[in-house]
Amino acid sequence: GEKGLKDYYKDYFDIGVALPTRNFSEAETSFFKKHFNSVTAENAMKIQPIQPVQNQYNFAPVDSLVAVTRRLNMKMRGHTLCWHNQVPDWFFKREDGSTIDKATLYDRLKTHIYTVAGRYKNDIYAWDVVNEVISDKKEEFYRPSKFYEIAGADYIDSAYTWAHEAAPDALLFYNDYNEIDSTKRSKIIQMIRGLQAKNIPVHGIGLQAHWALNEPSESQLEQTLKDFSALGLNIQITELDMSIYPKEHQSREWDAARDKNTLYTNDIANAQAEKYAMFFKLFRKYSKQISSVTFWNISDKHSWLDDFPVKNRKDYPLLFDKDLQPKKAYEAVIDF
Ligand code: G3I
Repeated sequence: GEKGLKDYYKDYFDIGVALPTRNFSEAETSFFKKHFNSVTAENAMKIQPIQPVQNQYNFAPVDSLVAVTRRLNMKMRGHTLCWHNQVPDWFFKREDGSTIDKATLYDRLKTHIYTVAGRYKNDIYAWDVVNEVISDKKEEFYRPSKFYEIAGADYIDSAYTWAHEAAPDALLFYNDYNEIDSTKRSKIIQMIRGLQAKNIPVHGIGLQAHWALNEPSESQLEQTLKDFSALGLNIQITELDMSIYPKEHQSREWDAARDKNTLYTNDIANAQAEKYAMFFKLFRKYSKQISSVTFWNISDKHSWLDDFPVKNRKDYPLLFDKDLQPKKAYEAVIDF
């Protein structure tokens, strides 16, 4: 049949999509099959959804997504084994409500990783093992998460070791956002180099790529890809989208944009197409390192950005419109 996005990019990298675990219509499944060859669960494999209660795992939704992915002959990325967000309360607490110690945290994290990575070791070819541990604040290296407060930074090394033991064939990634910021990027690179120096099994770096119409610029993105390439690791773009709103939430421009809520004008559509074309031009240029580009959500019908950074502000961050029709941005990305 007609070519889809993944076919245009078959000589460069895989094209992925983040999916929920609801049932999909036939139209949706054929749309997935046409454009994508990789799937990430948007939420279902995180600690809260998959182990809401200690030792009671909610595997069923993940199992069906894995089955759909297999049936459509697509690869699957795993997201994520260790993240400060979407962790259930029990994880850090004893029965009496007090905070657990480091040994207990290690025990729980190891059990979690062994159970989840182990169960899907033949399904998931790449795992975001540790997610977002680097701080966005200039003066701070690690994010002061509960994990970090209880265990210091050592648990990061262990998480990779455990994931490798549980799923020896999986590529293990470190995944983070705001990677276009040079200060944060240096810290990410410094941390990865530290892992490499200790022979910790880390094979790839995930750039979430939650970007916007106004950033990154071409030179900023090129510098980002160049810096990460120097690590000699596999690079994957793991959560790509492009908000039509400027990133600086407090700025006057942002307020003006908010007033124009739901206005996906022709000008914005054109600017977005141009920007997406630039992203993909650079992805192709670095395709020796980049093995996969995943979009975070399916189409503009629903994006996590509809509720972030403010609730109920419709965004238009993807290549397909609410009816799964290709936007100008799609045409721009396949035109090379
Ligand atoms: O499923 C529950 C439901 O049981 C509950 O009653 C309801 C009430 O709030 O919430 C539902 O959970 C929501 C969940 O998405 C599933 O829809 C959570 O509130 C909501 O916070 C959660 O948001 C997810 C977010 O991660 C959590 O921080 C987004 O869908 C998901 O797209 C987003 O993805 C993250 C990546 O994992 C990591 N990188 C950043 C990216 C965007 O934030």
